[in-house]
Amino acid sequence: MTKLRVGIAGLGTVGVGLVKLFADPNSRLNEKLELVAVSARDRAKRRGADVSTYRWFDDPAELAAQSDIDVFVELIGGSAGAAKASVETALSRGAHVVTANKALLALHGAALAETAERTGAKLLFEAAVGGGVPMVKALKESAAGSRASAVAGILNGTCNYILTEMESSGRSFEAVLSEAQQLGYAEADPSTDVGGFDAAHKLTILSAIAFGTRPDYEHVRIEGIERVSLTDIRLAGKLGYRIKLIAKASLADGAVEMHVRPALLAYDHPLANVGGSLNALVVDAEPSGQLTFIGRGAGEGPTAASVASDLIDLAEGRAGFAFGRPLSQLATAPRGTPSERGRYYLRLLVADRPGVVAAISDRLAHEDISIESFLQMPVHDGPSVPIVLTTQTCARAKMENAVAAIEALDVITEAPFVMPVEHAGPRWSRS
Ligand SMILES: NC(=O)c1ccc[n+]([C@@H]2O[C@H](COP(=O)([O-])OP(=O)(O)OC[C@H]3O[C@@H](n4cnc5c(N)ncnc54)[C@H](OP(=O)(O)O)[C@@H]3O)[C@@H](O)[C@H]2O)c1
Repeated sequence: MTKLRVGIAGLGTVGVGLVKLFADPNSRLNEKLELVAVSARDRAKRRGADVSTYRWFDDPAELAAQSDIDVFVELIGGSAGAAKASVETALSRGAHVVTANKALLALHGAALAETAERTGAKLLFEAAVGGGVPMVKALKESAAGSRASAVAGILNGTCNYILTEMESSGRSFEAVLSEAQQLGYAEADPSTDVGGFDAAHKLTILSAIAFGTRPDYEHVRIEGIERVSLTDIRLAGKLGYRIKLIAKASLADGAVEMHVRPALLAYDHPLANVGGSLNALVVDAEPSGQLTFIGRGAGEGPTAASVASDLIDLAEGRAGFAFGRPLSQLATAPRGTPSERGRYYLRLLVADRPGVVAAISDRLAHEDISIESFLQMPVHDGPSVPIVLTTQTCARAKMENAVAAIEALDVITEAPFVMPVEHAGPRWSRS
């Protein structure tokens, strides 16, 4: 039997992990595939695996253009430049592509899938979401027989690690982030992770598969974890909640709403106890019911294993459409409007003057929002004092109106910080 000939572009964490799997005599990869060529920027660089026996290319697009390469594996990263150019080159000539590049797929997934369909190539990306956790395959399978109404996950291990460490060690966001950078858990430029953009890339991919829509990154509402303070974590804990960065897409009345934002989760919520750098995904679907997937969302071994599983799917003829169905069947879903209802956590910093609490209560009451609790804050010795409250269930649009009105008060000394409060249940609130 002829083996599929593979070229790998990118020999960093994941690329080296994949080379090691090819070098492992017990790996199933070599039964039906053969690694023949590699590409990276610096040929002289010492790597954790021997690549000297493979053909070398400085330019990944040149590797992608080789007519004897059946499968081009892109492990460079980034939504433009060498990654995009080389993937386009491979797909355009009908070579299959396996990639772990969520940014590329979130921004250009539809165009790449279109090229693949035109030339008969396959485009697979299990490792792009959830690292070693087979979220993409699971969703494709479940979407084939069930109708999803919501997918929600912890999709960024760096954020989850930081929030977990803040809670367990009582250290600030800045202190934990700096330690994570020293340990190599966080990038030198952490903005893609802590700003919520990486989770948004992954959510874009999952939402497209779950709801049969075209990837639509532009419409993800994104908020990162930079404003989550130790005070928020402590007060949430006193109330029985844990703060997590949640990436969630839900379908209601034909419209898809996607957001990434920190949220308070009740301790019995299926995502509340996913700690450290783990990733998790919860799918609400009928008739299958709620499904939960948890595991290691990054790292050499888990991520390379997901790439390898795509390669074996290709070799064994199991690869389907990139987003689970032909591009022509993917709808352009109308953007969700903020029709959701939920409970909210609101932190304010206000001038220490009489009547402030009454003014805030008044703005909430004007939007028919009832306060569930005012939370006691630690002693503060500046000219401003923090006020924290939670609301009863209300429409998000009304909450947004109330927060805008509160922000306009001259006693407010810092932009209000709002987080939704999520409870477990057969179905969660759509907040
Ligand atoms: N790391 C993870 O745990 C993980 C998990 C899930 C998904 N991913 C995704 O997997 C992909 C790879 O991630 P990674 O962590 O392995 O990245 P990485 O360690 O930064 O490695 C990137 C590799 O790409 C090569 N490269 C960069 N620009 C190039 C260019 N212009 N031409 C040729 N080669 C180039 C680099 O070459 P040199 O080595 O010569 O500099 C390096 O070998 C990304 O899309 C990432 O988002 C990573």
